[in-house]
Amino acid sequence: MDEITLIPLCNAAELTDGGLAVPFDVVYGGQTCRAFAIRYAGRVHAYVNRCTHVAMELDYQPNHFFDITGHWLICATHGALYAPDTGACRSGPCRGGLTKIALSEHEGVVHWHTAYNLKPVEF
Ligand code: FES
Repeated sequence: MDEITLIPLCNAAELTDGGLAVPFDVVYGGQTCRAFAIRYAGRVHAYVNRCTHVAMELDYQPNHFFDITGHWLICATHGALYAPDTGACRSGPCRGGLTKIALSEHEGVVHWHTAYNLKPVEF
């Protein structure tokens, strides 16, 4: 079994509730993809930045993922809405939920967790 590695992502203070995301790169299923971290209702969450309608990044304006209510993540292309805490599709043309990436927050630093199909980008 692969070990899970915790990779430093950002300072906890960079993620404000319903605010801008912090982007990062991952290798998901062998492909390099963009990912993003947000904070919602006090907790941090991260997803692969790929809409389930068409495989496009959700944000048209970089790092803007929340809709105007601050309670849903919105795809700028056709308006699919996803739940910020689970990535589940709420409405719009999404076909299933966003791919979640585990995060943890410890002593003011947010880390993302690798998984069997989720690796850091090697330089
Ligand atoms: S590409 Fe996201 S809603 Fe169509």
